[in-house]
Amino acid sequence: MTVLESDLRMSRFVGIEDIAIHVPRLYVDFKDFAEARGINPAKLEHGIGVKKMAMIDTNQDPATMAANACLKLMENNNLAPEDLGRLYIATESGLDESKAMNSYVIGMLEQIYGNSSFEHCGGIECKFACVSGSYALYDNSNWIRAEENDGKAAIVVVSDVAKYDIGSAGEYTQGAGAVAILVKENPRILVFDQKVTATVIKNEHDFFRPFGRQTPLVDGRYSNLLYLIQVKQAMKKYKIKALEGGLFKIGPNESVIDHIDYIALHLPYSKMGKNALAFLLRHEWRDLPKWADIIKQIGMEEPKPRNSNGTIESIITDKEFMENDEKFRKRFMETPQYKEVFNEKLASSLKASEMVGNLYTGSLYMGFRSELEFEHKMGKDLTDKRVGFASYGSGSSAMVFSGVIQPTYLEVVKRMDLEDEIGERKKISIEEYEKLHEGQKGIDETLLSTKKEFVLVKIGKDGVTEGFREYSFTN
Ligand code: CAA
Repeated sequence: MTVLESDLRMSRFVGIEDIAIHVPRLYVDFKDFAEARGINPAKLEHGIGVKKMAMIDTNQDPATMAANACLKLMENNNLAPEDLGRLYIATESGLDESKAMNSYVIGMLEQIYGNSSFEHCGGIECKFACVSGSYALYDNSNWIRAEENDGKAAIVVVSDVAKYDIGSAGEYTQGAGAVAILVKENPRILVFDQKVTATVIKNEHDFFRPFGRQTPLVDGRYSNLLYLIQVKQAMKKYKIKALEGGLFKIGPNESVIDHIDYIALHLPYSKMGKNALAFLLRHEWRDLPKWADIIKQIGMEEPKPRNSNGTIESIITDKEFMENDEKFRKRFMETPQYKEVFNEKLASSLKASEMVGNLYTGSLYMGFRSELEFEHKMGKDLTDKRVGFASYGSGSSAMVFSGVIQPTYLEVVKRMDLEDEIGERKKISIEEYEKLHEGQKGIDETLLSTKKEFVLVKIGKDGVTEGFREYSFTN
């Protein structure tokens, strides 16, 4: 798939130049976790799709992960602070109700690049659960397209610690990590398609974390269905924009998915991606001629909610429908038609999620990076392939957009190696994990020794420094 002529007439190609990650090296193994909670390990490995959940040490937090990812991105691209005009941080693990995480991150980076070296930069901390990084990317791309950037690039960092209550169903969807994304003109990895970005937004209660709480309040089943519906709605809007703008044409017995070579979805856990693909394909395919053959293979009609008044509550309380729908979905996911799309367009993006767990805002971008690395390692040529991104944030909002991979992605992808980049990992026991989770250890009671990394050294206890964080770079 090539960038269209209509794109070529547009003044500026803007997108992703490079991506750097920082994943903490401590992890909880799914087998230990399953044993401790009395869960069948097969449920975690296959039902959720997680093998290792990354955990932060006592001297790490979302700001250190963000700063470490930024530093790596700057070093890999020989960037000086004056090459950058904006540094945005998107997170739902905010450290302060007022002071933006960016200022802490800039404070850390200035320990390396010199006092006031980032003074000319702008940026804010963005919040909208897991979707805020996508809004930050979109806004920064438009800042460049509008030629407000004075030739400078932007960095968008997504950084989170996904933390749920001990003993809750969310506990096995935890993880931590940061992804720093360099946005510029004529980028090496991917150019965003213009005028197709589609968003939906609604006041919802699926997942939220009121002031003072360390962990969210979650309605798990509700949040799953809401994610699917919101992404489907955004996808519908994306399709209208893409067709109206001439990005592609959809032929008979085709759907929008036929014009998207790779899919990157928000991944609170990897199985969610598999399920979301099934939901989207059912929606896209059910009115096409090929659906009749798929129904024959599934051996049952697609169920419809009986007394639905359109609300999610009315759907999830319809037990019979929910059970039949699950049966139908699982059989659909066994069809060769589903498997082909899954294997060709999505499977590689799930690998990182299995290895590190949930990154909240970072999950979508870690998934995209995973797709690049593992497709490349399989010898696939991704040049000119279109990637469709589906971002979801509880509360809730979804954003669907796309971009085309540039031939120069090869310069970047060849050094991507997730395992090597994370470094030597340390498995922690459930007792150690629980102490970390409950904040029962002091900052200097670390489980790992750190080298060449930003770390948290102090949190002010009283007076005007209460809660203020201090960081340093370990040599
Ligand atoms: N072997 C294999 N699979 C098994 C199994 C076994 N022995 N036992 C169960 N499973 C499967 C189930 O069949 C199910 O599969 P499907 O997805 O195909 O239906 C899967 O394991 C999950 O099991 P349950 O349906 O019993 O679900 P659960 O009670 O474990 O809860 C959850 C899952 C709702 C996601 C819960 O972990 C949760 O609340 N997580 C937090 C909320 C969340 O992540 N929501 C996602 C959308 S919202 C969002 O994305 C925003 C965000 O980032 C938070």
